[in-house]
Amino acid sequence: MRIIPNNKGLGARVEGIDLSAPLADADLRTLLRALGAHGVLCFPNQDLDAAELARFGARFGELEVNVANMFHAPGHPEVMILSNKRDAEGRPIGLADAGQGWHTDMSYAKEIALANVLHAKEVPVRDGRPLGDTQFRDMHAAYETLPAEVRERLEGRSAIHDFQKFWDMMRIRPGSIRGPLTPEQRAKRPPVSQPIFRIHPITGRRVLYCNPGYAVRIEGLEEAESEALLDFLFRHQAQPDFLYTHHWSPGDVLMWDNIGTTHNAVADYGPDEPRYILRVQVMATLDYAALAA
Ligand code: SIN
Repeated sequence: MRIIPNNKGLGARVEGIDLSAPLADADLRTLLRALGAHGVLCFPNQDLDAAELARFGARFGELEVNVANMFHAPGHPEVMILSNKRDAEGRPIGLADAGQGWHTDMSYAKEIALANVLHAKEVPVRDGRPLGDTQFRDMHAAYETLPAEVRERLEGRSAIHDFQKFWDMMRIRPGSIRGPLTPEQRAKRPPVSQPIFRIHPITGRRVLYCNPGYAVRIEGLEEAESEALLDFLFRHQAQPDFLYTHHWSPGDVLMWDNIGTTHNAVADYGPDEPRYILRVQVMATLDYAALAA
């Protein structure tokens, strides 16, 4: 296995490993370390079915079954289908607007996620250029470059994260097929409190864990100050220096750190430009410091 970093902050390419085969313990350790160091790992030219993707993801922690998951691979509720494709009757076969806005998956849940693992089967291309990029921002760097007075003001504080914020942002977009959350879905995802700074379980370094997709309020501050600080944090993390963009190719498996990065799916392709991606969400259920040691 070879790990080839971008040398531009986030991102590395991992070659010489077949992810459809069971993952050896030594490779698990190497990949965890690489995930901590580079944030986003691309394994090109893979060919995994839903069961193999789930088996690979499950080596890193329990897999989540999304509460609003309308689309998943047959027999695999933990493998979500992200796609703008439709069946012969014109019905959607995947979630078309997943992640189209900056966010951190699962920050709205008490148990947070370690990583996302996506496997591209079809990638839209226009004029020879791939569309539907996924963008990332580096939250280690965002924390480390915060002004000292902001760090001091926010040290030990938490923010409320709400699943409904991102859901409603997507829902009001033209053409969205999302309905309002049902009372049952809402009950399963009440707002939760998350520390604004947290220690990354692999790197042991601090990260800024506060994203515009879900964070709604800093606890213990007046509303105006909370608004102003959230606005500052969201603008601070949006600096171009922290950005990395992944251009997809069919066959890519992309694994990213959901604690040390935020991400955004770029919606620059049309309904007739098919995109089809399988996804598993790895919850942070293991002792990563020990596994990566
Ligand atoms: C996501 O946010 O998990 C989806 C990312 C993508 O489809 O590029």
